[in-house]
Amino acid sequence: MERIVEIERFSSEEDTAEVTLRPDAWNEYIGQDQIKKNLGVFIEASKKRQEALDHVLFYGPPGLGKTTLALIIANEMHTNIKVTAAPMIEKSGDLAAILTNLEEGDILFIDEIHRLSPAVEEILYSSMEDFRIDIIIGSGPAAQTVKIDLPRFTLIGATTRAGMLSNPLRDRFGMSFRMQFYSSDELAKIIFQASVKLNKEIIHQAALEIAKRSRGTPRIALRLLRRVRDFADVANENDIQQHRTQYALDELGINSHGFDEMDLRLLALLASANGRAMGLSTIAAALSEDEGTVEDVLEPYLLANGYLERTAKGRKATRATYDVLNITLPQDEGKLF
Ligand SMILES: Nc1ncnc2c1ncn2[C@@H]1O[C@H](COP(=O)(O)OP(=O)(O)O)[C@@H](O)[C@H]1O
Ligand SMILES: [Mg+2]
Repeated sequence: MERIVEIERFSSEEDTAEVTLRPDAWNEYIGQDQIKKNLGVFIEASKKRQEALDHVLFYGPPGLGKTTLALIIANEMHTNIKVTAAPMIEKSGDLAAILTNLEEGDILFIDEIHRLSPAVEEILYSSMEDFRIDIIIGSGPAAQTVKIDLPRFTLIGATTRAGMLSNPLRDRFGMSFRMQFYSSDELAKIIFQASVKLNKEIIHQAALEIAKRSRGTPRIALRLLRRVRDFADVANENDIQQHRTQYALDELGINSHGFDEMDLRLLALLASANGRAMGLSTIAAALSEDEGTVEDVLEPYLLANGYLERTAKGRKATRATYDVLNITLPQDEGKLF
């Protein structure tokens, strides 16, 4: 079977660079061991039975490897994959056109799947279950419903906002996996692997240095690697050394914990509450972000690393928050922590 891979969003230099560094083989995909282990079993089983893989949902913050994993699954299954994103499927007719063009066993990847409109979502979940869609032709009393059978396909959905999927849609995924942040060692491996592809090898210590400042996220790690490589290129160095990396990261003003500006604003906000909890809506308003983004994109990394605590009353700064911001603890700290 011919392999079709459509990547719709190729626009910037950044995106293109990301696509070239994207691993396409199972063993180049570092980390996410639990997910890989489970998926490996399901892939093997469906190959043995010569059936399409059950529908899969990946959720978690951006840059952790959801799209990459979908492409690797297609590679492993030796199937076509059609890549699209929810905002591009505006009308039910758009989805019908995509679905009716699939072949037996194909994978349909829908990114940002939480952004489908209710009407489109409804067609999607019924097609996931029955492999059939009902299309209404015409309008008014003359309207007719036509049933179209679909081939057995696999839907892979990706989202940063699993909470926003409707229950019927969520229930139709046979497997759903939460992506984990990567350890520094895993990120260092990813960075090294990419440096070989870039023809500019990085020494281990330097890779680890970048890894530690990457917020547990491969996309950030690879972006930093490309910037550090620029510094090494300009200095006419054949490989990427520790001192050049250190210099570049300092020049770029990368925070030693890998926090970005938004993280720091959130932490400073929490610290300003002097030990009191702050509600999600207050935080979102203060940062001019929507609550879902704060909760699903911003908070997970901070929470996973102990820089933020969720309580019944809201979010609170931790001892680590004050440490990292270099702010003295509020008085009466004994009561706070
Ligand atoms: N487990 C991994 N091993 C190696 N590289 C990875 C891994 N996960 C992500 N990457 C790299 O990070 C970049 C971002 O990953 P992507 O799959 O686009 O993230 P997401 O879809 O979750 O936002 C990709 O270009 C890929 O090269
Ligand atoms: Mg993606």
